[in-house]
Amino acid sequence: MRRLLVLLALLWVCDAVKFGQLCSGNPSNSRRTSDGWGQGHYGAGRGGRLHEGLDIKCSDGSTVFAPFDVTLNGKLTVYTDPSKAAINEGINLSGEGLCFKLFYVRPDRTSGRVRKGERIGTMLPMQRVYPGITSHVHVQMCDKSDPTRYF
Ligand SMILES: *[C@@H]1O[C@H](CO)[C@@H](O)[C@H](O)[C@H]1NC(C)=O
Repeated sequence: MRRLLVLLALLWVCDAVKFGQLCSGNPSNSRRTSDGWGQGHYGAGRGGRLHEGLDIKCSDGSTVFAPFDVTLNGKLTVYTDPSKAAINEGINLSGEGLCFKLFYVRPDRTSGRVRKGERIGTMLPMQRVYPGITSHVHVQMCDKSDPTRYF
């Protein structure tokens, strides 16, 4: 009996939440590392503040998918700066007990539920605002904690 409980505990630990594919063309959720505009990891410097999310590579115009079964909690605006209007959209989501936001995505819909792997929107034209950057979806937990462990 004790052995069975240990096995179940191990299975539970191994079964921690992981994000499925977020962006067409990036099946392994590979991350933005470093480019002329900065670095993509959580906690990277952003001119006096810290990067509060994790950047997952996504080419402009790509389809963005639900990483697991999710509920759509509404649209977001990312910036107040009008020069960044081209990429100033995102969506708030929840699922698998997590609340998180995706930035730079134009959502198809802003409420309801979407199944894992179904499309939720389109990657906005980031090269227009940040020429030469590694275009990416920014994943940010609603509580600003580090999302890296879910990838
Ligand atoms: C995202 O949605 C959740 C659940 O509805 C809500 O609690 C949270 O305040 C929302 N966050 C933002 C930034 O809209």
